[in-house]
Amino acid sequence: MISQQTIQQILSRIDIIEVVGGFVRLKKRGTNYLGLCPFHNEKSPSFTVSPVKEIYKCFGCGRSGNTISFLMEHEKYSYAEALRWLAAKYNVEIEEKEQSPEVRQQQQVADSLYILNGFAQKWFHDTLLSSEEGQDIGLSYLRERGFNDDIIRKFQLGYSPEQRDAFARAALAAQYNLEYLQKSGLVVVRDERPLDNYRGRIIFPIHSQTGKTIGFGARIIKSNDRAPKYINTPENEIYIKSKILYGSWLARQAIDKQDECLLVEGYTDVVSLHQAGVENVVASGGTSLTVDQLRLIKKYTNHLTIIYDGDGAGIKAALRGLDMALEESLDVKLVLIPDREDPDSYVRKVGAAAFREFVATAKKDFILFQLEVALKDAAGDTTKRAEVVNQVAETIARINKAEDFTKRQDYIRQCSEILRIEETGLHALVNKFIRERIAKQESKAASASTPSFQQTDGMSLQQEGAPEMPGPDDEDSINLLFKHEQNERGMIRSLLDFGLRPWDENTSVADYILAESSDFYDLIDNRRLVKILDIYKAWYEEGLEPTVKNFLYHEDQELSTLAVSIMDFHHELSLNWKEHFEGKIATRDDLYKEDVISTIGYLKLRKIKRLMEENQQDLSKPHTDEEQMVLLQTHIHLKQLERDLLLHLGTVIIK
Ligand code: GTP
Ligand code: MN
Repeated sequence: MISQQTIQQILSRIDIIEVVGGFVRLKKRGTNYLGLCPFHNEKSPSFTVSPVKEIYKCFGCGRSGNTISFLMEHEKYSYAEALRWLAAKYNVEIEEKEQSPEVRQQQQVADSLYILNGFAQKWFHDTLLSSEEGQDIGLSYLRERGFNDDIIRKFQLGYSPEQRDAFARAALAAQYNLEYLQKSGLVVVRDERPLDNYRGRIIFPIHSQTGKTIGFGARIIKSNDRAPKYINTPENEIYIKSKILYGSWLARQAIDKQDECLLVEGYTDVVSLHQAGVENVVASGGTSLTVDQLRLIKKYTNHLTIIYDGDGAGIKAALRGLDMALEESLDVKLVLIPDREDPDSYVRKVGAAAFREFVATAKKDFILFQLEVALKDAAGDTTKRAEVVNQVAETIARINKAEDFTKRQDYIRQCSEILRIEETGLHALVNKFIRERIAKQESKAASASTPSFQQTDGMSLQQEGAPEMPGPDDEDSINLLFKHEQNERGMIRSLLDFGLRPWDENTSVADYILAESSDFYDLIDNRRLVKILDIYKAWYEEGLEPTVKNFLYHEDQELSTLAVSIMDFHHELSLNWKEHFEGKIATRDDLYKEDVISTIGYLKLRKIKRLMEENQQDLSKPHTDEEQMVLLQTHIHLKQLERDLLLHLGTVIIK
């Protein structure tokens, strides 16, 4: 691994005009450079490079990025390869990051397993295509099922012979180490004899995102009650089941392009759909989805469509854990394949076009689907029905990001219709669940900065008079969301721009921001922004001096794109403008402290307002006197917090 110090050195030397100019003829136009876009065919130039921002953008095809992403796209380099290329160009000596012995050891095991799996994959594939047994048994089985030669090659399918140690012998003869052979699950040792673990099976190699073979699924050919249908690689350094989506290495681009990921259960479903030309598809391997798998999907799209057979047990397994998808802001739809078919058999039966059409029209929203199933279960039973209401409220409460506000309202409306209950009632219930979760997070972060609330009895409460009720929010909610997002971005931007400047004699702006927002999750809804904060913090605490460049050139392309968009504010003063009025107008640069205080202040106020709103919702419901009291006290307490904050902000104008 290249050390962060080296990366920083490389980044400080990058000249985007020089690098991109090595591949594209650029002409100066004002402050920018212009050329013919290397990513699409064009006659007049719309490919623009900004040396100031260190980014490029094509106004024809929309492609944009930085020097490193240019090398990655244009030269098909990996991130590390691009860095090494730049290091060589600028004579930067590469310092490899010190790895702990354990990490190095693990890396070595992983490397050996990759190599071994690569060998095994080829061996099984060759055996399928070239050996007599492979052709007679394996290939004829696959052909009978309708798989053509192209698709067999594309998925690198293989065959393991019936003989008890055919593969083990070949691998040992090729000098592969027995210990790794066992770790990979390819070979087992019985009575001191190395034997094959897969015999007389079709081999489905399982690949990482980047196409390396990390394991296998081996399907039995002759059905046999005693043997399992599939045997999979055991968990090891590279086969980590919770992170695997079968077929993702071949589906990535199609998922990206179609902005939808189809999820099926079986390996054969994926292969069949590809053969039919449906390529944005991955398989979970018949278990419930994990957070890691969901995040993998989320890297490419927000739209997940789960396609399962109608009466399979798999559907229940898949539904479990899907609440997590809501928290990840994924849109989840379900499609049930009718008539005891599975996606593999169904696409063969109806053809690709009809299959697509079916998926598009039969898609059901996951929350509404779950609600319908639960309601059917609870038919006529009032206690069960009440449970269903609670459940659905809890599920909806997980849709909790500012940008998902409208989505949440929609669900509340639709679900209350289906349940035939008052919309406001469901609303209050959802809010209750959200509040409970916030309270849980709060208690974790409970800090001394919050003045403890004076226990008031009924009398003194009355003396205070009826608490002042906040009026309805008259701001346009879209506007509000926009403002929220701007302030969230503003905070990150201040950190990246001014983090290393002094706050006072002893502390930096970064010290201040990181302390003020110690629990980022609380103040910032956008998780990707939180991620930037987290990474900044880690680097900063390591003694690095991160700037926007570290993010602009971050390995994670999503983060780098986000960094580009954060910096790309429209209200930026142009350089000329600044020079022209030198010293006359105060810029963000001069007022950076005020900028930071106002942004953080805004986010804190927003949090308090949210808590007040929810409390308010609850207040309008009937309650016992005691409950009413607690709610009123909470209100007064929040009001006080708000006042303190406004006082503290003083003359700083809240944006
Ligand atoms: P075909 O029946 O050949 O079409 O295979 P399939 O992939 O459609 O299998 P099925 O629908 O029965 O199961 C779906 C997925 O669950 C499979 O692709 C496997 O990933 C997994 N699975 C099924 N049976 C087993 C088993 O016995 N052991 C293990 N480890 N996984 C299994
Ligand atoms: Mn099947």
